[in-house]
Amino acid sequence: MKVLVTGSEGYIGTRLVQVLLDKEFDVTGLDTGYYEEGHLYDMKGAEYPLIKKDTRAVTPEDLKGFDAIVHLAELSNDPVGQNDPEITFEINHRGTMKLAEAAKAAGVRKFVYFSSCSIYGASEQVSDENTTPNPLTAYAQSKVMNEQALSKMADDTFSPVRMRFDLVVNDLAASAHVNKLIKMSSDGTPWRPFVHIMDVAQAVVLTLNAPAEQVHNKLFNVGSNDNNYQVRNIAEIIAGVFPGCKTEFGDSTGDKRNYRVKFDKIKEVLPGFECKWNVKKGAEELKQIFEEVKMDSEVYHSRLYTRLKQIEYLKNEHKVDDHLNWTV
Ligand SMILES: NC(=O)c1ccc[n+]([C@@H]2O[C@H](COP(=O)([O-])OP(=O)(O)OC[C@H]3O[C@@H](n4cnc5c(N)ncnc54)[C@H](O)[C@@H]3O)[C@@H](O)[C@H]2O)c1
Repeated sequence: MKVLVTGSEGYIGTRLVQVLLDKEFDVTGLDTGYYEEGHLYDMKGAEYPLIKKDTRAVTPEDLKGFDAIVHLAELSNDPVGQNDPEITFEINHRGTMKLAEAAKAAGVRKFVYFSSCSIYGASEQVSDENTTPNPLTAYAQSKVMNEQALSKMADDTFSPVRMRFDLVVNDLAASAHVNKLIKMSSDGTPWRPFVHIMDVAQAVVLTLNAPAEQVHNKLFNVGSNDNNYQVRNIAEIIAGVFPGCKTEFGDSTGDKRNYRVKFDKIKEVLPGFECKWNVKKGAEELKQIFEEVKMDSEVYHSRLYTRLKQIEYLKNEHKVDDHLNWTV
């Protein structure tokens, strides 16, 4: 099966592509390369063709012959979006729409979209796919807009699949490793769900292998009911993996996001899906990688590994313009 992975050079993309290649999918990547200088470690994986292009400039010609697109290429995470909401809408909403329309025109059957559990925002209840979204940031708003617009595009020839999930243990673990401190802006009481990249990759593989009718226009959360944690609990689990690490919390006026999520539907849509990872296991994996790459304060604070800093750098050096288009 010929699969195009957009955002293939990013945090999730680099690992997802390796999983798909191992499963013998015929993979091509598409990425504009904002963070191409910042590869923390070499996974020594198989080679694959890469189209260096912005989603906003994609045409149906670029997408002819693919059976499926897994779409990750957006400005990832809430702080990047809050920094410049307009550019977030431009890339994350209009770029995604341009890509999806070109995909449909090119006859690509499946379009797997990476949404986020941050669309649940703040809620006292346990949220599921029927809960009305409560996006608190431009990033989360653009995710909701895309989920809805993609659903309207579904027909006999085009099957969008929308997945919601959350990661974020990496930054906390890096701080635990380098600073021996995990500092949270919230008071530690809010709930968040977590899932490992390899479990997300499992959901993508099952989706690509499923008959189109099985996943057609489906929206589901990716994760497990057991992997909802209070932020305080997360900090303590990670601190437990990094000896000598302390935890510090803010007050209740900090980060407002608070959601607990139900993950029952994925088992109906993708029979056999089972999370194999939890936060402790993920933190242990990160610890091993940080030791291998000798992660220190300089690496941790480098622009190369911090999305916001790298985007600011590209703008300040006029390598990209205000719309994040390359100038050269
Ligand atoms: N990391 C998370 O915690 C998380 C959680 C839920 C959903 N997601 C979603 O998963 C996707 C991938 O996340 P990530 O953490 O790997 O992000 P990332 O920032 O590491 O990677 C995104 C990649 O997309 C590329 N890109 C960005 N804008 C582009 C454009 N206009 N045209 C072409 N390429 C472009 C970047 O160069 C980068 O390589 C995103 O859509 C993100 O919103 C991520």
